[in-house]
Amino acid sequence: MILSRLDEAQLPACTGELADLMVDTVDAGASIGFLAPLDRAVAEAWWKSRADGQFAVWVARDGERIVGTVSLAFPDKPNSRHRAELVKLMVHRDARGRGLGRTLLTTAEEAAAAAGITLLHLDTETDSPAEHLYRSAGWTRAGVIPDYAADPGGVLRGTTLYYKRVRA
Ligand SMILES: CC(C)(COP(=O)(O)OP(=O)(O)OC[C@H]1O[C@@H](n2cnc3c(N)ncnc32)[C@H](O)[C@@H]1OP(=O)(O)O)[C@@H](O)C(=O)NCCC(=O)NCCS
Repeated sequence: MILSRLDEAQLPACTGELADLMVDTVDAGASIGFLAPLDRAVAEAWWKSRADGQFAVWVARDGERIVGTVSLAFPDKPNSRHRAELVKLMVHRDARGRGLGRTLLTTAEEAAAAAGITLLHLDTETDSPAEHLYRSAGWTRAGVIPDYAADPGGVLRGTTLYYKRVRA
């Protein structure tokens, strides 16, 4: 397994593979912003629109295929340079349960701290498997917003907000 950060020049070349991973993740029922079935072209367009310098993307490759990813989104507001949002943590169904999700999370946390970020935040579907991972990695549950977003099947679900203070 090779884990690396995509620079701005590499991201456009990987949007197709990232779209495949996103389609697999939505098909498996995860609430990551899309309804199922997710059109691959829509997923790829989403990744292409992230190549704006406000987004840092890490990918894990098993051979030639991307099997995991995580990103940090940096706000452009002048009063928010100290924080970032952890988004699109995804591991392909074939590669789950072997520690890759935790490795990706740790990688993004450490990179954020090294870049001078002191506060990370995220939201995730309430009671989803990802909640266990965030809690066990030291994230603090800030609260729940009911009926926040539709899951891939179209049913409204709550979201849980988490944050974590990080330091280099
Ligand atoms: C959440 C996700 C990234 C975890 O990836 P993974 O590679 O399977 O995670 P790991 O193997 O590193 O496991 C991390 C921890 O989560 C637990 N976990 C993983 N899947 C779980 C599940 N389905 N139910 C309960 N716990 C689970 C593991 O037991 C492990 O905890 P432990 O170390 O205390 O045993 C993966 O399930 C995924 O891609 N889900 C869909 C996308 C998603 O929901 N992303 C989060 C959006 S905010």
